[in-house]
Amino acid sequence: MRIYRAKDYDELSRKAANIIAAQVIMKPDSVLGLATGSSPVGTYKQLIERCRMGDLDFSQIKSVNLDEYRGLPRENEQSYYYFMRENLFKDINIDMANTNIPDGTEPDSEKECLRYERVIAGLGGIDLQLLGLGHNGHIGFNEPDSSFAKMTHCVDLTPSTIEANKRFFASAEDVPRQAYTMGIGTIMRARKILLIVSGADKAQILHDVLNGPVTPQVPASILQLHSNVTVVADEAALAKC
Ligand code: GLP
Repeated sequence: MRIYRAKDYDELSRKAANIIAAQVIMKPDSVLGLATGSSPVGTYKQLIERCRMGDLDFSQIKSVNLDEYRGLPRENEQSYYYFMRENLFKDINIDMANTNIPDGTEPDSEKECLRYERVIAGLGGIDLQLLGLGHNGHIGFNEPDSSFAKMTHCVDLTPSTIEANKRFFASAEDVPRQAYTMGIGTIMRARKILLIVSGADKAQILHDVLNGPVTPQVPASILQLHSNVTVVADEAALAKC
C-alpha cells in the first residue's frame, strides 16, 4: 500500500487526478471505477481542467460507478447519476453510452444487482477504482456488517450514513433508506484502487482502516489485503496514522 500525504484538500485532489490521468494516458480505453460524495469533487474538477487543456482524452474510457440510491430516478438532483453528470461527465469528452451506474429505479433488486455485475464482468473488470471513505469505514455503500459482501447488492443504509448524507437532501426523512452498491468482492477485484480521504473527522476511521484489524465492521479495512492500493489523504485525515 502506498500512502501519499497531501497538505490539504486541493493538493490531495491534484495528486489523485495525476494518478487517474496517468491511467487514462497509459491505457486510453481503461475501465474507471468512479465514486460520489464530497471527496472526489476536487479530483473531478482537476480532470475536467486537464481535459479542457487537451491533455486528457476520455473518448474511449468506460466507467462504472460504485453505487446508487434505490428509488431515485436519474433526474433527481440527489441521484448519483445526476451527481456524476454535473460533476464530471458533462464537462469531459466521455461517451455517455460508456458510463454505467446502477439503476435506482429498478424495483427488482436481485435482477438489477446481477445485471450490474454482468456489466462490470463484460467490460473485463475495473482497471482503477476510485474510493471515498464513509465515517463508519464504508466504501461504496458497504456498511459495517458481520461479513464482507461479495457482489453488487441492495443495502439498508445505517442511521450514521443517513445522518451524514442528509446534508444533500431537504431533510433526513428524504434520504433513501436503501441503495444498490458494488460489493466488497466487486471492489477487491479491481486491478488498482485509489482511496482518497480528507479532513480531521476521518482521522480515527482512517487510522482503523490502515492499522486496525481486517474486519467487516470496518469495511475499508479489507483494502489492507489488496495488492495495489494507493491512499491519498490530507494531513488532517492522517493525523492519527
Ligand atoms: C457516500 C458514498 C460513498 C462515499 C462516502 C463518503 O455514502 N456512497 O461512496 O465515499 O459517502 O462521502 P464524502 O466523500 O462526502 O465524505
